[in-house]
Amino acid sequence: VPVDPFDLVVFGATGDLARRKLIPALYHRMRDGQAPESARIVGAARSEMDADGFRRMAEEALEEFLPAAERDRASVARFLAMLDYRAVDAMGDGGWDGLSDALSCDAGRPRAFYLSVAPKLFGPIAGRIAAQGLGGDGARIVVEKPLGRDLASARALNAQLAEAFDESRIYRIDHYLGKETVQNLMALRFANALFEPLWNARHVDHVQITVAESVGIEGRGPYYDGVGAMRDMVQNHLLQLLCLTAMEPPARFSADTVRDEKLKVLRALAPLDPREIVRGQYRNGGNATSYIDDAGDPDSRTESYVALKAEVANWRWSGAPFYLRTGKRLRARMSEIAIVFKEAPHSIFPGDEGAERPNMLVIRLQPDEGITLAMTIKDPGPGGMRLTDANLDMTFAQKLGAMTRMPDAYERLVMDVIRGDQTLFMRGDEVEAAWAWIDPAIAAWEAASEKPRPYDIGSSGPEDALMLMHRDHRRWREIKA
Ligand code: BG6
Repeated sequence: VPVDPFDLVVFGATGDLARRKLIPALYHRMRDGQAPESARIVGAARSEMDADGFRRMAEEALEEFLPAAERDRASVARFLAMLDYRAVDAMGDGGWDGLSDALSCDAGRPRAFYLSVAPKLFGPIAGRIAAQGLGGDGARIVVEKPLGRDLASARALNAQLAEAFDESRIYRIDHYLGKETVQNLMALRFANALFEPLWNARHVDHVQITVAESVGIEGRGPYYDGVGAMRDMVQNHLLQLLCLTAMEPPARFSADTVRDEKLKVLRALAPLDPREIVRGQYRNGGNATSYIDDAGDPDSRTESYVALKAEVANWRWSGAPFYLRTGKRLRARMSEIAIVFKEAPHSIFPGDEGAERPNMLVIRLQPDEGITLAMTIKDPGPGGMRLTDANLDMTFAQKLGAMTRMPDAYERLVMDVIRGDQTLFMRGDEVEAAWAWIDPAIAAWEAASEKPRPYDIGSSGPEDALMLMHRDHRRWREIKA
């Protein structure tokens, strides 16, 4: 469905995120006929450049980040014609009048400001937009993590944004919510009657959420070091996945109904027990460099891996813990949510007593998006009643046939901003509740000057993470490609 013509201002338009994600996403939405060609996309950054210079930069970004098959000349030309550019000094007065001239006077036209800039500029730019009178009724502002580094700074940021924009016009991106499979989790839970009766601690033994990456911190040391996996991944992406898995069914699929339910989950989280957290840091292996080499600080205590046990202390989940883990330079890129059901209460098959065969519903987020239901069946043949494990398997790409370019998360999210739909964006109170839960754990290990446990590059993380599960007589699913 096409969206209305809009004005989108991208602050930090020459930066990495804009080039890698936003420009390709906007191009695709135009090419698919969703973003009308009369929409204006105005790049804004410090560099002095004219519109043609920006168009050249955008064209290069498309060439670098999109496969050739997705770039036809005519579409690229039509897309570049939508672009404009203004040099703006985010912290001073320079360029703001020019930016204002680049925008439509049509008050009914949705207008969005995408702040693809360093977080310390979020508040000042929001303030400027308002002071310049550019933040009228239809205007929205888009920001992305890091949204603070603890509860106090997240609150301060929320307060700064609130001075310039009403909460209903603030779009906080967690790009995991834009991923197709993450939205599919809601379809799976709330468009099928099959799972809901089983979706609780009476039938579920535990849940495992894994976001494993094979890449390291690459050139991101200056951002990542001192931040670490807990802030970079758990506070946002993993907790969002936990919320969508654990929440009660909202009455409607709408922004505040969904976000109210997620908030209740965050507030139901029992305080983290420091003994149930394992932090790791990758060390030398083969040709790859260790974390401390990548970070350039031999004394760094930043974790590139974290595993923990979380308890959602409410009627639905009490007794069925959520184990979360995420790390860099692990054996494979593999993200999934596994709902591990309780075992059959009694085995009637001789010789099979004691075999561990829990049913498991695995939602594969990436790569190879799909769903697997692990079952037990009879091993074929006349050899008696022998049992074996088998999977009911669905790969979305196969199931859905040709329509299978999985759109990038940003495509969905940017169009939702224009449509004015906040369902897949984090509300300020959610962000604060997530920090409120994380903060004491970080404070505890920082106070103890605790060092992360080393783990080998290409492994599945530190040994202690295995123990975290073994203590509870459970085990992690294998990380594999
Ligand atoms: C980002 C983190 O938010 O998510 C990165 O800052 C991480 O450290 C990335 O690599 C993972 O995203 P994706 O979409 O590749 O799973």
